[in-house]
Amino acid sequence: MSFYLTTPIYYVNSTPHIGHAYTTLAADILVRHHRQRGEDTFFLTGTDEHASKVYRVAEAEGLDPKTYVDRIAEKWRELPERVDADIDFFIRTTDEEHKRFVQDFVQRIYDNGDIYEDTYAGLYCVGCEAFKTEAELVDGKCPEHDTVPEWIEEKNYFFRLSAYQDRLLQLYDERPDFVQPPFRYNEARSFIASGLQDFSLSRAGQPWGVSIPWDPGQVVYVWVDALINYLSALTYARPGDDLRERYWPAVRHLIGKDILRFHCIYWPALLLSAGYEVPREIFVHGYLLLDDRKISKSRGNVIDALDLVDVYGSDAVRYWATRSVQFGQDGSVSLDSVHERYERELGNDLGNLLSRTTALIAKFRDGRIPIAPGLGEEAAFDRLATEVSRKLDAFDLTGALDELWEFVRALNKFVTDTKPWELAKDEANADELDRVLYALVDGLRAAAVALYAYLPATAPKILRALGQPEEFAWSGVAQGGTAEADGIEPSVPLFPRVESAAAA
Ligand code: MSP
Repeated sequence: MSFYLTTPIYYVNSTPHIGHAYTTLAADILVRHHRQRGEDTFFLTGTDEHASKVYRVAEAEGLDPKTYVDRIAEKWRELPERVDADIDFFIRTTDEEHKRFVQDFVQRIYDNGDIYEDTYAGLYCVGCEAFKTEAELVDGKCPEHDTVPEWIEEKNYFFRLSAYQDRLLQLYDERPDFVQPPFRYNEARSFIASGLQDFSLSRAGQPWGVSIPWDPGQVVYVWVDALINYLSALTYARPGDDLRERYWPAVRHLIGKDILRFHCIYWPALLLSAGYEVPREIFVHGYLLLDDRKISKSRGNVIDALDLVDVYGSDAVRYWATRSVQFGQDGSVSLDSVHERYERELGNDLGNLLSRTTALIAKFRDGRIPIAPGLGEEAAFDRLATEVSRKLDAFDLTGALDELWEFVRALNKFVTDTKPWELAKDEANADELDRVLYALVDGLRAAAVALYAYLPATAPKILRALGQPEEFAWSGVAQGGTAEADGIEPSVPLFPRVESAAAA
């Protein structure tokens, strides 16, 4: 089975912040999980470089656009690395292969008769890179960017989106999971049902972009150029190997709610017109809000994702971002909440559990794990394996993590209830103590395997501390997989104390 997941490609007019890191780390959790299940995965991310706003920033800095994007793209390449996202390819829309593919793609649409020439006049928001209707503005400003749009009047090439209304409605009716969660599906579907207007697929007044093959005086509209990345990447990510057969249409797009219309309406219509199949699923997540306001450069409340990682480590940031806010909804976060979850949940619930377990084995069993099954609830392991998978299939990253954490907390309760240090006082309890210690190690081992997608740096440390092979196949979540091991020593803290983020 193939599982191909994409993040949006990011605009390079500024540097990454935690809002961008959010999409990338969430995508990585999903991909790692599917890989654990033995699926053939492919994970794509990258940069969207032909936007007008990118061109303008370059101009303001006195650089030619290519020099500017080459420089800043390096900052964006660091983003997946810093949140420990194990990507398969990083696409840049300035890649020559991508540009050629875009030209071929729009040419196919042109040849199919879905493009015509017309003059367009309207209000354009450079932040959104989209025309706006009066009705979409609040006090004459784009509500997303809080800026007054510009008046643009150009002769452009138009895409006959209106011709796809019925086919899109049919698609939505046949595939109720095409867009998720359901309230986003409804949002997209009612937008289609309310009537679709053709949109301009080219820009005349800008030298920066992919030139229109039949009219080199114009460039491809940046959104069309950008969307095509999901397909073009497959044609050159592995030179000599066209990955489209393997991964298209088994593609899932993970996006933020601000770009729903482009992905859920424009993109399937463009694909149908160019003769490609539409994506399997599109999942729309909400915003991370900082003190109830959207985190964005223009609002000046950016938490630098990389700073947080420096203080707490990538696992803690991955954990906090998916745990704190129900994935799919908007949610408010604060720096205090990172610190608190780091100490209370990662440090206490998980870190101390490992310290305790390894200390008990070292002290009472000379560092040897006794193989003594008999305790521990098989049903709890089964539930963990099934529910985490089921929830991640539904992109419920928060719900799956809740399941995981319940399991971790149940292990803590198991230690408190069974009191191994009391059992150790009387040799008559030796067998019972063996069973308790084994159940504890086995639970922690299974938890580490199940947590791997969220905590890819920590999970191997847990297995190593327990003398277990670092294998993460999903079958390892089952009960009883613990191997004999000795030489177990009290482990160093998994999540050492840090100064609070505010202080850092
Ligand atoms: N370049 C386009 C995407 C083209 S995809 C073919 C773009 N880029 S972006 O850099 O502005 O945004 C990329 C993603 O980051 C979007 O999904 C957006 O929703 C997400 N986020 C940016 N800030 C965010 C938060 N504060 N919270 C959650 N996600 C946010 O749009």
